[in-house]
Amino acid sequence: MNLSFANKVVLITGATSGIGKATAIAFSAAGAKVVLSGRRENLGAEVVAEIHAAGGEALFVKTDIAQESEVAALVERTVSHFGGLHVAFNNAGVESSCPLTEIPEAEYRRIFDVNVWGVIAALKYEIPAMLKSGGGSIVNTSSAVGHVGMAGAAIYVASKHAVEGITKAAALEYANQGIRINAVAPGVVITEMLDRFAGSEESDAAKYLSSLHPIGRLARDIEIAQPVLWLASTASSFVTGQSILVDGGFTVQ
Ligand SMILES: NC(=O)c1ccc[n+]([C@@H]2O[C@H](COP(=O)([O-])OP(=O)(O)OC[C@H]3O[C@@H](n4cnc5c(N)ncnc54)[C@H](O)[C@@H]3O)[C@@H](O)[C@H]2O)c1
Repeated sequence: MNLSFANKVVLITGATSGIGKATAIAFSAAGAKVVLSGRRENLGAEVVAEIHAAGGEALFVKTDIAQESEVAALVERTVSHFGGLHVAFNNAGVESSCPLTEIPEAEYRRIFDVNVWGVIAALKYEIPAMLKSGGGSIVNTSSAVGHVGMAGAAIYVASKHAVEGITKAAALEYANQGIRINAVAPGVVITEMLDRFAGSEESDAAKYLSSLHPIGRLARDIEIAQPVLWLASTASSFVTGQSILVDGGFTVQ
């Protein structure tokens, strides 16, 4: 099974923390030239330094994924710096929890701008760059709640269901042009996002979330990164339009 990314250029959004950071480091360890994007320059520089210290090649490009002009500039910079684009991991996302009858319109727009438009805008610029690079593989970050509902999180749930739909439609549009497009759908992962919506890993809320996963614990970021590398690699060459649940059994109950 070939999981090497030697001579491959990989672009990752939301790469300054959590799943995106772990995936960037894993791609680099597998030989890729990695472009990290996000809004926090100091954290981006730290991840780049970590990759350089391990002997890898990486570039950070400050990008708000909800701003189309910044996404266009990100892809342009990727191609001008590393000479092409072969893999993209559209991972930037924001969470939201709010009782349905209290959802402010601005909250809907904040979440959909990043989780939905951010993915569409990324695809819009990544795909032409990949076609010029001879094809490629794209992975979007969905969620277990892109497959099932969750009370109190309607906007987030809807945004991740949208990522599922975008993944299928985009996969069909480019299936015969050498670009595969899939999603990864994690259960609850120990990241800054968990800290924001549940407090620390040790909180009662986190313990409750852990109990919802039949495997008996929450995921670590690297456990999401590994399936992303498989989806991005030629090892999954006949897989497109799929969403791979990496959820410790959460959705099969
Ligand atoms: N942690 C979980 O339990 C969990 C579960 C399922 C899915 N996810 C999804 O995984 C992805 C990564 O989340 P994470 O858990 O690593 O949390 P995280 O908060 O560490 O990572 C999210 C990243 O997205 C970036 N981001 C947010 N808005 C952005 C914007 N406008 N432009 C550019 N970057 C932006 C953040 O700065 C951050 O680096 C998200 O899409 C999230 O919805 C997380």
